[in-house]
Amino acid sequence: MLEPSPTARRAAELRALLHRHAHLYYVLDAPELPDAAYDALFQELQALEEAEPALRTPDSPTQRVLGRVLEGFEPVRHAVPMLSIRTETDTTDAGAQAFDARVRRELGLGPEDAPVEYAVELKFDGLALSLRYEQGVLVRAATRGDGETGEDVTQNIRTICQIPLRLQAPAGAALPAVLEVRGEVYMRRDDFERLNERQRERGDKTFVNPRNAAAGAVRQLDPAIAAQRPLSFFAYGLGEVAGWMVPARHSQVLDALAAFGLPVCADRAVVLGAEGLVAFHQRVAAARDGLPFDIDGVVYKVDRLDLQRQLGFVTREPRWAVAHKYPAQEQMTRLNGIEIQVGRTGKLTPVAKLEPVFVGGTTVSNATLHNVFELRRKGVRVGDTVIVRRAGDVIPEVVGRVPGDRPGYVSNFLMPRQCPVCASEVLREKGAIDHRCSGGLFCAAQRKQALLHFAGRRAMDIEGLGDKLVDQLVDCGLVRTLPELYTLGLAKLSALDRMADKSAANLVAALEHSKHTTLARFIFALGIRHVGEATARDLARHFGSIDRLMDAAEPQLLEVTDVGPVVARSIHTFFAQPHHREIVEQLRACGIRWDEHEGAAQAAPGPLTGKTLVLTGTLPTLSRDEAKALIEAAGGKVAGSVSGKTDAVVAGAEAGSKLEKALSLGVTVLDEAGLRAWLAGEGDGVGVVST
Ligand code: IVH
Repeated sequence: MLEPSPTARRAAELRALLHRHAHLYYVLDAPELPDAAYDALFQELQALEEAEPALRTPDSPTQRVLGRVLEGFEPVRHAVPMLSIRTETDTTDAGAQAFDARVRRELGLGPEDAPVEYAVELKFDGLALSLRYEQGVLVRAATRGDGETGEDVTQNIRTICQIPLRLQAPAGAALPAVLEVRGEVYMRRDDFERLNERQRERGDKTFVNPRNAAAGAVRQLDPAIAAQRPLSFFAYGLGEVAGWMVPARHSQVLDALAAFGLPVCADRAVVLGAEGLVAFHQRVAAARDGLPFDIDGVVYKVDRLDLQRQLGFVTREPRWAVAHKYPAQEQMTRLNGIEIQVGRTGKLTPVAKLEPVFVGGTTVSNATLHNVFELRRKGVRVGDTVIVRRAGDVIPEVVGRVPGDRPGYVSNFLMPRQCPVCASEVLREKGAIDHRCSGGLFCAAQRKQALLHFAGRRAMDIEGLGDKLVDQLVDCGLVRTLPELYTLGLAKLSALDRMADKSAANLVAALEHSKHTTLARFIFALGIRHVGEATARDLARHFGSIDRLMDAAEPQLLEVTDVGPVVARSIHTFFAQPHHREIVEQLRACGIRWDEHEGAAQAAPGPLTGKTLVLTGTLPTLSRDEAKALIEAAGGKVAGSVSGKTDAVVAGAEAGSKLEKALSLGVTVLDEAGLRAWLAGEGDGVGVVST
């Protein structure tokens, strides 16, 4: 028997590694490697097999679409297999050019022939899903599984409000007998952040990234839990179709799907040739950070379906489509140390000091570890190789460690007993997750953060008062309290390091300018725990004066829209402390002023004054923004969720869980006509249940 060659050994090793990590990733939703590292191993194996085809075993991960049917879900056989597309890993323009060249060659086009038209889309980073509609009714939702057989996840998918349970019939047209829609379930970045925040508060396991959170939710065996995980969906193609004239172009298919009421991403286009592909790739690269969801690339598809048929498939991938990637948003690097950062409310956050690494478009050397419990759960220790994630404008975070040997014994990280900045005692309330410095404004770190918050654009808006300057002002003892900011004159400021006369003069002017503000901004600027901008606005509107707010007892605070017991207690405790009242007095003495009647003026009674409404589903003529604007113009408020304090829910087509909640709580439900009656001041108390 021959010794296996070194390449054969490496191929076998790669297959084993890839099988293990694919199982962790696809089946258990618990990946241990960042995507980029997995892709690199996959490509290494692909390259070995290409060079030496004899190495290609039937069970090689390169030979099949991955995934496995989980126990607990019924298997679903896909009438049309759910295939994947080739990935162009060259993230430069050359990737797009190579695809166009291949397509032209396969179609037998010469240089004199016209450019190919491509439908270009985003590559959503979620989980492939098939939705089967029969006579316009959603009958089944299935995951991809191994491409031939997936899992029946209909119950979970029905909880996604974005997915219509019944298609809309476009004017004059009938609904298809069978329409299988293919698309991606994903989680928006803000929903993901909120979900993880909630998990963290409860001390539950957090999710590594939106895709894993989405995958976990879709395959959650308990639909009630799945329903609490906010999922979204974009349609991008078709599976089985019967009784419908499929349009001639992919872009028209997407238009038709949108007309059926399915969510189709608006960020798509039809472009010409390689140039058009390159331009789209670049445009999306620039916009990527600002998108509300993760993408890992763009997808190019030949637009004409007759040409798609002509091009056909190679093994399991269409020749007419390709995914063109972007640099990864997760990377591996070394954890060099853990430091503690003290926040505005005294919260101690462990911060990872990293070997600088390029991820999500910037070099990252610090990343949050959130709190000591998460740090323990993730099991990261100094010296470990860790996975860092940075997506969009979200603060970079360490999501876990890459298993491997530890060089030697490294002790577990412990929270300090004393604040590393002011040496005050560190406390953790019973049952709370966070450790806090008890130093309050005695602590320089909290003072700095309080000043920065006060000066922020959405608070007092003091232009030019940034973190460097605040550091200096606090460190040299010039500013100890908020009011002391207003005692800074040209002389004191110009004496500071690196402070030009011009900048000093600008800052004095900015301070002066900030004195004329609004009550809402002033309340927000004080930095009361749990009082964000929206609550500050509600408080200003409700009380109309800072004195009335300062004197309010908890039951009065609870009368304010959206103020619950935790917020009421926090506000009351804040103003119960004499030094906080003194700060307010001193700030007023510095000349800070606002229109005391601002609250009352804003609340100029309209037909909906004091009413909170919730919008859900699609209204026949009004867009969501239009409805919101009308409600607010009539003095009402639009809230995001239904509670006992909701006065009415305005429900349109495909209204989901909010409507159910309203019905269960006995909250009035209006349709668009009902809303218009309320806006006209006619309908109070009359509920019109829409179906
Ligand atoms: S088209 C036969 N379009 O990327 C072509 N896929 O391998 C079917 N994906 O897991 C795929 N965004 O779920 C297509 N705009 C898009 C996509 C997209 C994300 C996912 C898809 C699959 C993988 C493709």
